[in-house]
Amino acid sequence: QVSNLDMDAAEKGGYEHFMLKEIHEQPTAVKTTISPRINNGMPDLSECGLTPEMLKNYRKFFIVACGTAMHAGMVGKYVIEKLARTEVTVDIASEFRYRDPIVTSEDLVIVISQSGETADTKAALHLAHEKGAKVLAVVNVKGSSIAREADMVLYTHAGPEISVASTKAFSVQMAVMYLLAYEMAYAKGTITEEECRRLTAELQKIPEMIEKTMECEDRCKYVASKLITATSLLYIGRGLDYTLSMEGSLKLKEISYIHSESYAAGELKHGTISLVTDGMPVIGVATQSDLLEKTVSNIMEVKSRGAFTITVCKEGTEFSEGVMDEVIEVPVLEDILMPLITVIPLQLVAYYTTVLKGLNVDKPRNLAKSVTVE
Ligand code: AGP
Repeated sequence: QVSNLDMDAAEKGGYEHFMLKEIHEQPTAVKTTISPRINNGMPDLSECGLTPEMLKNYRKFFIVACGTAMHAGMVGKYVIEKLARTEVTVDIASEFRYRDPIVTSEDLVIVISQSGETADTKAALHLAHEKGAKVLAVVNVKGSSIAREADMVLYTHAGPEISVASTKAFSVQMAVMYLLAYEMAYAKGTITEEECRRLTAELQKIPEMIEKTMECEDRCKYVASKLITATSLLYIGRGLDYTLSMEGSLKLKEISYIHSESYAAGELKHGTISLVTDGMPVIGVATQSDLLEKTVSNIMEVKSRGAFTITVCKEGTEFSEGVMDEVIEVPVLEDILMPLITVIPLQLVAYYTTVLKGLNVDKPRNLAKSVTVE
């Protein structure tokens, strides 16, 4: 006689919650998603109908999504613009649909959605079509309405994501953005074949690097124990680290119910730093080498105002004595690839904070897994 409890445990692969199971499924999810799109060491997205010729000729990209999927789009913007030098605009879907965006038939609109059913994202797809643009959908659920209505579809292969807080879907969405950036940059000649092969090979190492990053799990559990009494905290960063600070903040808010806000580290002095009071936790994301010094000085600014500083950084990053109260180290990769592993501690800190607060990790209050209404 298999009890419901046993059934439930089996469904969760032995993990206490679907969210933890899905966090740990990320190496496999990324591998399963990128492998079919790498052909003889080079990115190959032709399965969806995208050709190098098309990629070369788009005027610009619009990436439109909601929540975590929008954060994946922001990583996509950074990587595509950095490597392919094509302009990318990222919009929250509920904003895109009402701002009469300047979308033309020469543009590509990319919609990202785990469920493929998000109402605002679907409406953005319809608006893109009304304006004559083709739509590429990056979705995780086969046969979902966004997949059916898009002109081209790149499925992510994360498997079913049950927990309301999106984790493995985010990682595979980012992975697709990297492949798109590499193929486009090579098609446009902004990177050489050799560089494209190198970047692609580095991307193929990410599953094992995510696995290695899981070693910070106990540290994240300890840091979470420092957050459970917090009423409000800041996540700060610059560049890609700023984007990841948005994802970290959303993860924490939606499941632990602790208020948090992500803020561009360089912007704090323009007002928001007045919020920092004694003991306020500030999570600094500081993995981008070229911005490290400036991000550290922003962390020192909040420290001098009494903040409890927690910093996510590359292994071996040196800080002057007394600046960082807690540090979570992740393996060293080149800056542009760091989001794929930086997100792990941010997910784990949110998860363990929620567990320590005794809340319902997988089904947070007021939230649905797919927001199919406006
Ligand atoms: C993420 O943790 C949230 N659950 C939520 O923001 C989600 O990313 C958003 O609703 C978009 O969902 P979709 O990817 O299914 O379109």
